[in-house]
Amino acid sequence: MKDGPFSFNLGEGGFIPDEYDNHIQRRLSNMKGQYLDQEAYQVKLAQEDILLYEVYEIKRPEIEGEILHGISIVHPGKVGEEYFMTKGHFHTVLETAEIYYTLKGRGYMVMETPEGEWAVEELAAGRVLYVPPRWAHRSINLQEDEDLVMFFAYPGNAGHDYGTIETQGFRKLVLDKGNGPEIVDNPRWLPSEGG
Ligand code: F6R
Ligand code: ZN
Repeated sequence: MKDGPFSFNLGEGGFIPDEYDNHIQRRLSNMKGQYLDQEAYQVKLAQEDILLYEVYEIKRPEIEGEILHGISIVHPGKVGEEYFMTKGHFHTVLETAEIYYTLKGRGYMVMETPEGEWAVEELAAGRVLYVPPRWAHRSINLQEDEDLVMFFAYPGNAGHDYGTIETQGFRKLVLDKGNGPEIVDNPRWLPSEGG
């Protein structure tokens, strides 16, 4: 971890992997049960456990007052009709927000609250997306052959609740049935107990 103030590059020349402390890679095998077309998922996985997305983190203490930040890269591709996407999560401390700044590419952020509201916002290079407290979030790359690259920042004490999305899914999915991205109800969405 760096001592004292520090800076790093995001502008001209893009981000520099060496400037980050931690590199996380998520592959197809990490997304079991998340894609709608489970047969297409199994077929693809049997061919290759491909890299779906990566996160480069600057290490900071995971405590209130700190800001955790880094870069997320969602690679292009599809599983069946569904675009490559992140797992998605609620923050464990629900009342914590997050900021995303898209550096490169085009996509959607799919979001929902435990109360049942949902939203899909466009991610486009040069635009900032604010994810308010309480909103689960998943980023999706809508492009054919380019990475979706974003800078993110969120409170140090937020934590990640992946379990809720793993078991109940998001209410909305983004599919391409041949005419580009379509936001559809998730037929497998399962409300959690008491939800
Ligand atoms: C952190 C955050 C992002 C994601 C990243 C990967 O709170 O929202 O840094 O962690 O986009 O997505 P997940 O964590 O859902 O696998
Ligand atoms: Zn988050």
